Amino acid sequence: MLGGCDGWHVELYLAASRITRPEIGLRELCMRTQVLIAYCTRSGSTGEVAQAIGQTVSEAGLAVQVKAIADVESIMAGTEVVLGTALYIGHFPKEFHQFLTRFEKELAEVRPWVFVLGPTEKERKQFASAEEQARRELGKHPLLRPADMRVLGGKFDPAHLKLAFPMSLILKLPANPMKKIPASDIRDWDWIHRWAGAIAEEIAARMSVSPMVR
Ligand SMILES: Cc1cc2nc3c(=O)[nH]c(=O)nc-3n(C[C@H](O)[C@H](O)[C@H](O)COP(=O)(O)O)c2cc1C
Repeated sequence: MLGGCDGWHVELYLAASRITRPEIGLRELCMRTQVLIAYCTRSGSTGEVAQAIGQTVSEAGLAVQVKAIADVESIMAGTEVVLGTALYIGHFPKEFHQFLTRFEKELAEVRPWVFVLGPTEKERKQFASAEEQARRELGKHPLLRPADMRVLGGKFDPAHLKLAFPMSLILKLPANPMKKIPASDIRDWDWIHRWAGAIAEEIAARMSVSPMVR
């Protein structure tokens, strides 16, 4: 055991990356444990939450990459994964489902943390229904076994909405009904940073490395 990195993980890493033992130090192996935070966003709010989680996890001493799902080309064995998306009309965006299908095998090998932005009002009913929607959507990927799934309050800003076709057509209508909905942002940044800190601690525990969690 060196620097908190145990032999089991070292063997796993070596097997995964096909690197022969003398070429690489144990301490370096620990440092190479990557945390990938992959998010799917339309109007940007999920991306901002992903960045905030990335900041906290990185401050805890772990190597983090925060990426839009379109920019994820591969998921290396040994990578810890956090996934984020928003709900739209009761569903995850199509491209998020495509991402989960594309990386089905890799994601089946990890226990990813999942966050789902949805409710834009602090109403218990909205959260309960979003939770149900999120579980149903995740259930479409039976190989995915999240370590944790959280529905988070989201952001609605009619002046800066970006939607996918055909919903985007609504925004072009002179009588766009969304304009009448008041803007809101109920993202709870304190909670988000605390959750990210707990994720960092769990990853560190998995690797037996102690993080510098605030
Ligand atoms: C057209 C539209 C449909 C939405 N549908 C849902 C929904 O079905 N359930 C829910 O909980 N939130 C819903 N929301 C709220 C979004 O999930 C929330 O605004 C989120 O923060 C958007 O994330 P993004 O900025 O990353 O795209 C909807 C928002 C819009 C604009």
